Amino acid sequence: MDSSVDAVIIGMGYVGLPLAREASAAGLSVIGLDVHPEVVDGLNHGRSHVDDLADADVGEMLGRGFFATADTTHLRRARTIVICVPTPLSSDGAPDLGPVRVAVASVAEHLQPGSLVILESTTYPGTTDEEIRPILESGGMTAGKDFYLAFSPERIDPGNPNFGPKNTPKVVGGHTSVCTDTAEAFYSRFIDRVVRTKGTREAEMAKLLENTYRHINIALVNEVARFCHDLDIDLWDVIAAASTKPPSATRGSRRSQSRSSMASRGRTRRRYPPAAAPTRRHGEHPRRESRSLGARPSTGLPEATGSGEPAEQRRR
Ligand SMILES: NC(=O)c1ccc[n+]([C@@H]2O[C@H](COP(=O)([O-])OP(=O)(O)OC[C@H]3O[C@@H](n4cnc5c(N)ncnc54)[C@H](O)[C@@H]3O)[C@@H](O)[C@H]2O)c1
Repeated sequence: MDSSVDAVIIGMGYVGLPLAREASAAGLSVIGLDVHPEVVDGLNHGRSHVDDLADADVGEMLGRGFFATADTTHLRRARTIVICVPTPLSSDGAPDLGPVRVAVASVAEHLQPGSLVILESTTYPGTTDEEIRPILESGGMTAGKDFYLAFSPERIDPGNPNFGPKNTPKVVGGHTSVCTDTAEAFYSRFIDRVVRTKGTREAEMAKLLENTYRHINIALVNEVARFCHDLDIDLWDVIAAASTKPPSATRGSRRSQSRSSMASRGRTRRRYPPAAAPTRRHGEHPRRESRSLGARPSTGLPEATGSGEPAEQRRR
């Protein structure tokens, strides 16, 4: 009897559990894997520990065949494995990949030919290719040939009443184009729109760009709030007035032209590749590009180094 399941999702937290629910609601067979016995026990008794899901949601999942487990041998049954474990910041400010490495080691131990492995945990560009792939290939299989590998950032906005896992476009970047195809086919079964990137690094970087953009906006508004407070100006009145400005034109305006000129000048100076660089094969990552992205684990954020040495040398 075929005991395979559509997906084993590793990490039943704020990311993994809603994903499991969405997949299960679309008719996929799903198992949730978690290291914490109380998480496993609670879910199997119909209790949700995540704000976005009610106990009734978990009850419905159980009714559709979902169950949680701490037994990693169930990974053998998975056609797709999605890793949603934490990547907390360590004391030096770098993402702690410890939980990811533990999860990937379990996956490597039970990996079956033809399986798809997707990392969703937030991390720095290069993680999927440089950290995850070697562990998965240690058993002799090759990514893109014997199994498929992709990165797909989680973009949920907890508490947002308008956008949930189903209607938030899913960014997907595979190790090869076939890996991207396979990951796209998986998510398309239960998510409205899948957005492909050229590779895993572009998908990893897209998530960091989103986070950085959001942090800058939060910091900006915090500064404006202080300023308004000091000058006894009504901040909410200011925001209401300013938010009536129509979205800025992206083409044709002088301001956007000068911004483009500046960006272009900056790219030239930092030796960034041109915006419309020739398409490269999936899975290939030119040295110049990883250098300009500053793919290093110290901050998790992009950094233009301008250094002339290859990324491989800098990392040593
Ligand atoms: N929560 C969010 O809003 C959000 C949004 C976008 C991205 N992310 C990213 O998604 C990832 C997961 O975040 P989260 O909020 O779901 O974390 P979480 O702490 O809510 O849940 C993680 C779960 O993983 C389990 N776990 C840890 N190590 C494990 C292992 N080796 N094997 C199996 N299970 C393991 C934990 O017991 C926990 O239940 C992180 O990288 C986070 O940065 C989170």
